[in-house]
Amino acid sequence: MPLFKTISYDIDTQLFIWKILESETELNAAVELQDKHLHRLNGMLSEQHRKGFLSVRKLLMEAGYTDFDLNYDTNGKPSLADGKQISITHSYDFSAIIVSSQNVGIDLEKQREKIIKIADKFVGSEAVFLNTERNYKEDLSVIWGAKEALYKMCNSRSLSFKQDMHIHDFSKNTNQGTATVSCKELDFDCQFTFHFETFENYTLVYALENE
Ligand SMILES: CC(C)(COP(=O)(O)OP(=O)(O)OC[C@H]1O[C@@H](n2cnc3c(N)ncnc32)[C@H](O)[C@@H]1OP(=O)(O)O)[C@@H](O)C(=O)NCCC(=O)NCCS
Repeated sequence: MPLFKTISYDIDTQLFIWKILESETELNAAVELQDKHLHRLNGMLSEQHRKGFLSVRKLLMEAGYTDFDLNYDTNGKPSLADGKQISITHSYDFSAIIVSSQNVGIDLEKQREKIIKIADKFVGSEAVFLNTERNYKEDLSVIWGAKEALYKMCNSRSLSFKQDMHIHDFSKNTNQGTATVSCKELDFDCQFTFHFETFENYTLVYALENE
């Protein structure tokens, strides 16, 4: 059962999560790729990366699409031929997509101790509510995942994770929160809602732009 989970956020927004249990050969046999994507796949050095890439095509099929409906802009941001928005993530044994008419972003991270060491690189205003004694690694994983998801929604603008992205205190909510991305130099100010969940030592975060 490699389709691990689906989440219907609302009538318009769906998430699909794959647990990669297949071999690369099995995945390869199950999907057909556009030439440019086959070329990209053949250039990937790591088997894990190739499996992640192929499993995303399985998720596309679950969502009613194929690889031929998927395109990328010059920065690597994916889009769908029918005009719907898509965001993609893969991490070790899992991959996930979110599809919607709205601007959406998704990120999946394996929880690792290393996140504590690099916290200073991406934690800014969040320091006021983070507690290093309680749930620290888990909360850092949510903040990191939320910022990666937001980055994917901001059309590759050069935004600082630390200075421009603000995840508001989510400790009193259940698996959700709000965020602001604000950069005066870029004249950019946007509000977002994000949701998160953990499974098998992974943190999944997905975000939607507030309208
Ligand atoms: C692009 C980036 C967001 C990818 O995130 P990641 O955690 O490395 O990898 P994920 O598996 O979650 O996401 C990869 C997917 O993101 C998507 N993606 C790549 N570039 C993108 C972009 N500019 N905008 C939106 N989505 C993008 C692609 O679909 C890609 O998968 P695919 O090429 O196989 O289809 C990340 O590498 C990045 O550049 N982050 C911002 C840079 C930064 O400032 N980081 C650290 C600050 S301390």
